Amino acid sequence: MIPSPRLTTNLAGIELATPVVLAAGTAGVLDEMSDVLRLDRIGAIVTKSITRAPRQGNAFPRITFTQAGMLNAIGLANPGLDAFVADIAPRIARVPAAIIGSIAGDSVEDYLAIAQAMDAIEGLGIIELNVSCPNVHSGLEFGADPDALGELVSAVSGSLNDTKVFVKLSPITIGTPYTIVDLAQTAIDAGAQGLTLTNTVPAMGIDVHTQKPILSNTIGGLSGPAIHPIVVRLVHLVYAQVAKDTGVPIMAAGGVTRWQDAAEFILAGASAVQIGAGSFANPRTAVKVTKGLEKWVARMGKPNVSELIGTVIV
Ligand SMILES: Cc1cc2nc3c(=O)[nH]c(=O)nc-3n(C[C@H](O)[C@H](O)[C@H](O)COP(=O)(O)O)c2cc1C
Repeated sequence: MIPSPRLTTNLAGIELATPVVLAAGTAGVLDEMSDVLRLDRIGAIVTKSITRAPRQGNAFPRITFTQAGMLNAIGLANPGLDAFVADIAPRIARVPAAIIGSIAGDSVEDYLAIAQAMDAIEGLGIIELNVSCPNVHSGLEFGADPDALGELVSAVSGSLNDTKVFVKLSPITIGTPYTIVDLAQTAIDAGAQGLTLTNTVPAMGIDVHTQKPILSNTIGGLSGPAIHPIVVRLVHLVYAQVAKDTGVPIMAAGGVTRWQDAAEFILAGASAVQIGAGSFANPRTAVKVTKGLEKWVARMGKPNVSELIGTVIV
């Protein structure tokens, strides 16, 4: 199966062969999924979030499975910027899917340094600013405060040549006076060319025998089917209230394990759909979802999936 022209989708001027994307942190650092998946059959891979210095991440255990998804507190384990540029980026030209560089940091300077290094990498057309990691102290701060978010996004987007800037938000703004719509609007006003909705939901599991938290970090991020309907609502809200009129594309992430989940996201307003926990359940989920989407678009009588974006009838 070669992805059909029905599935091409446009992310701020970058064309993907299909709207199906492997989510940050769930597919190795770059192309490790090629062992189990034909990468020419998916739209894009988001890299592991890269930080300036290498990180070991949190102590084990840092992943556990729940009744309807998984909890993780990896803590942004990654090889760091220098190793990414020297050892991993040279492989990008040989990967038959688009590459989206995910960035995490503690300061505007961190994000800027990584964004500028990624901007110089051939074949890396989009960066995704992870401002919503629940598993490191500073991760959520940029994504929860509009002033900090606006400063970060305008500094990064103003400093790049051609690379498109996506901002990845948290599904949870409880404890702040802002909604995800406010934060999405702030990101767009500051120059973001796309949004990724969303990161994991802060959550916790307890071992009933030891009476201790299951994850060494106590708190982790919930992903997988449990969060899917929550994120469908958020994509719908942000699309209807901010993204549709500004023409800013949304990549949706949250609990996609079947083509129907991806189709729901597209109807809610997503131009592309990321798969994270779904690849842990079955590493071939992305290809399975792609095949199902292709048949769905044909059954809906549309020449291209883009004609279905945001067409939920409410
Ligand atoms: C094991 C694991 C590691 C993750 N690492 C990252 C990361 O490095 N950067 C990031 O932005 N999101 C990370 N995420 C979040 C996913 O990219 C995605 O936003 C989230 O899991 C929701 O999608 P899903 O329900 O399909 O998993 C991680 C998720 C998991 C399960």
